[in-house]
Amino acid sequence: MTIQVLFVCLGNICRSPMADAVFQQMVDEAGLHEQICVDSAGTGSWHIGEKAHPGTRRVLAQHAIPYNGRARQITGTDMQTANSYIIAMDEENVTTLIERYGNHPRLYRLLDFATQTHENNVPDPYFSGNFEYVYQLVTDGCRGLLATIRAENGL
Ligand code: 4NP
Repeated sequence: MTIQVLFVCLGNICRSPMADAVFQQMVDEAGLHEQICVDSAGTGSWHIGEKAHPGTRRVLAQHAIPYNGRARQITGTDMQTANSYIIAMDEENVTTLIERYGNHPRLYRLLDFATQTHENNVPDPYFSGNFEYVYQLVTDGCRGLLATIRAENGL
């Protein structure tokens, strides 16, 4: 069965699209695109249908990582998908998801998998503008996440 990985943030225009793009590239480079399906969504509805934030698009372009996704809001179906990993950017996202949908067996924060930082939450660059720092954190977390998924699923 295909493993689903869904990255979640608030707006689905800054952090989770960045993680979606970075992780997709890692999955492709590992030759696992048929085994692992990558997507992202926001808990909020403000930006549905929009392209990723210009700051996210700029940082991804600087690192030669493609992304063409449009923002969408998470649904109950996303949370019921079997064999899925739900990867939130911060504790607020986790709280919102649990309040709205109840617990999920594989609901994590991305930085639970990071090894190079003591941050637990990916800070929101929507207000700070620090997209490169977010990229470094996201890349760190995505590396660890892929290693974990490979180990847990024998890939
Ligand atoms: P994101 O950033 O959750 O990383 O996509 C935000 C995007 C939009 C808003 C907040 C955070 N907003 O308030 O519209």
